[in-house]
Amino acid sequence: MAQQSTPVVSAVGLTKVFRDFWGRPKAKAVNDVDFEIHEGEVVGLLGPNGSGKSTTVKMILGLLYPTGGSLSVLGRSPRAVETKREIGYLPEESYLYKYLTAEETLDFFGALFNLSKAERRRRIDQLLEMVGMAHARRRRVGEFSKGMARRIGLAQAMINDPAFLILDEPTSGLDPLGCKEVKDLITMLKKRGKTVVITSHLLSDIEDICDRVIILYGGRVRATGTLNELLTVNNENRIITPALPPPVMNRLVALLRENLQGEEFRIDHPRRTLEEFFLEVINRAKAESIETAGVVGGGKIAEYLSEEEKSNAVLDALMSESAASPVAAAEPAVVEEPIVAAEPTAPVLEEKLAELTGESAAAPESKTEEEAQKKQEELDAVNAKLDDLLSSRK
Ligand SMILES: Nc1ncnc2c1ncn2[C@@H]1O[C@H](COP(=O)(O)OP(=O)(O)OP(=O)(O)O)[C@@H](O)[C@H]1O
Ligand SMILES: [Mg+2]
Repeated sequence: MAQQSTPVVSAVGLTKVFRDFWGRPKAKAVNDVDFEIHEGEVVGLLGPNGSGKSTTVKMILGLLYPTGGSLSVLGRSPRAVETKREIGYLPEESYLYKYLTAEETLDFFGALFNLSKAERRRRIDQLLEMVGMAHARRRRVGEFSKGMARRIGLAQAMINDPAFLILDEPTSGLDPLGCKEVKDLITMLKKRGKTVVITSHLLSDIEDICDRVIILYGGRVRATGTLNELLTVNNENRIITPALPPPVMNRLVALLRENLQGEEFRIDHPRRTLEEFFLEVINRAKAESIETAGVVGGGKIAEYLSEEEKSNAVLDALMSESAASPVAAAEPAVVEEPIVAAEPTAPVLEEKLAELTGESAAAPESKTEEEAQKKQEELDAVNAKLDDLLSSRK
């Protein structure tokens, strides 16, 4: 399907070398990597600590400049303002402004994307409900638990209705219910045709939702393919039946012995995953408390995300009207002071960013190391200026 269209991400010989103060190579974080990501795919970027996942993600976002190779995102330079508009990003570290409430946080990011006040309100209501945080909308983000902050981060990544989402460790800090909700949410986004790249150390999460994985080690791609290609054991069979009565089982075993000529075989009972069991226990407990104590909405979050119709209605509403003219999804700045929700300064930011980067729909580039180093320094300066701009919005 998607294979015919322009890839969402295309990397050829992509390399990133970090240098020390004297310009000597310090770490080859990404080393001659080739990969493509296609429209509508959910791709897992896996690898042990320090294998180059976040560096790859930051190059896709245009926050780091590649030392070598070429990289195009949505057919353009990763640093083009038009590219950034279409991307939603959840960074691996929390970056939320601790003095803002949940809704002020989303309002702030909505304003950066130049959404009207009415549109911001509409989206914020729906997003808060979608990530199960409507009850905490007026609480300051600084008071949130890790999982609550993660949920707000996810809502923020979706405020601009992005076609392409990059989620760095989206389930980190979430309890099993939260993980399940995030996974269901990503599956729903996929159904809506969104492209998603996820990094995670939780392999079961990746296995549940990804179509394809790319496994990095030492900055190189060690394995890539669909989960079926990589995980199916083709030289074995599994037959699952209802529990068989002993005479049938005996006949079956005799038949297998006769045909397998001494080869070993195994018959056992399938096992549920611990996640399935845990969710069942919790949901049952919730259902009981609703009956006995008359609590309504105890299981609201889980219901909301698993109920196809309801959640689709929200997604429909959220995605029917795209953002008027959102600004670049820059790496959010760390602001320690409270910010009074002001009218959007997005047009100014947008102009500024275009002026600072001097980039628009540029073609994918391939540069010498010195040029790359120079560009990286320029990009660092741009990011620093953008941080200043963001923090001056008090
Ligand atoms: N700004 C930087 N300056 C110098 N070296 C860096 C920088 N960022 C990353 N590196 C190095 O690049 C390598 C890859 O780091 P990266 O953050 O991409 O790994 P990762 O796969 O995301 O790891 P984790 O699972 O721990 O998040 C590491 O050796 C790291 O020390
Ligand atoms: Mg990382």
